[in-house]
Amino acid sequence: MTATAPTPQLPAQGGNRRFADSPSARLSAAPAGYPAPMYPHLATEAQHSERRIRSFQPRRGRMTQAQAGALDRNWERFGLAIDGTPLDLPALFGDLPVTLEIGFGMGETTAAMAAADPAMGILAADVHTPGHGNLLNLLERDGAQNVRLAAGDAVILLRDMLPDSCLAGLRVYFADPWPKPKHHKRRLVQQSFLDLVLPRLAPGALVHCATDWEPYAEQMLDALTVRPELVNLHPEGDGSAWTDEQRAADGTVPGYAPRPDWRPLTKFERAGIAKGHVVHDLLFRRI
Ligand SMILES: C[S@@+](CC[C@H](N)C(=O)[O-])C[C@H]1O[C@@H](n2cnc3c(N)ncnc32)[C@H](O)[C@@H]1O
Repeated sequence: MTATAPTPQLPAQGGNRRFADSPSARLSAAPAGYPAPMYPHLATEAQHSERRIRSFQPRRGRMTQAQAGALDRNWERFGLAIDGTPLDLPALFGDLPVTLEIGFGMGETTAAMAAADPAMGILAADVHTPGHGNLLNLLERDGAQNVRLAAGDAVILLRDMLPDSCLAGLRVYFADPWPKPKHHKRRLVQQSFLDLVLPRLAPGALVHCATDWEPYAEQMLDALTVRPELVNLHPEGDGSAWTDEQRAADGTVPGYAPRPDWRPLTKFERAGIAKGHVVHDLLFRRI
């Protein structure tokens, strides 16, 4: 099945008087089933109609008053639309090295990592508006200045908006696992994605992925390992007692990383662990 975007329909006028023409109204005005930031306010017509694989679930989350309030107070300062316009990272982050986080969800992990390392700029991308509101609330609470939120598909951000060698890191935590075989092509971490992302990484940049979906972890490990631009920081594995079946024919173990103590538990990780899933981290360095 090829993922095609539904035709955006303009919302009825006056449907949301309280936030009419506010950032929260614009960001949440998308029709059901259509990711809000892809709405015409925020993306070009060409991007709407182009046929490309989408790695996210087209769902419409309900936004709380607190999230809408945070969007209205802080979006103009900290938010940007993924609309194809090239970004000036020094203008956004000053001298800070910038790590791109794709899929921050509700943003708890992003906020915690931003607070723990104010010398790192975080360009945090996701498609879902309630998460933007939630993260803005957390950043406001912490007084954090080192995060910018990007609304829309990170594939467009990487493809059209970032120059080469501009990123000091990439984080992809608990990307949608797309478990059904017919949906595997929608998994974010695959070669076509790495073709886009690797040129944007500066030499020495850290690539950090984590997932609780074992087959996706294996796919990530294979995809990252075959790239000559990347070096696995933990080829010796994470210290797990791997069974004979899990070892490769030459006796080596999968090159997952031990969980870094600086990665806070994420919402989806907690849910995965509750279901008995095993979490794998992958840490690679860009040559
Ligand atoms: C399963 S959630 C994980 C959220 C969070 N990292 C966590 O661990 O709690 C995956 C997130 O990635 C986002 N996502 C998936 N593909 C994306 C893309 N191409 N661009 C931006 N966000 C994307 C989804 O919208 C979703 O919020």
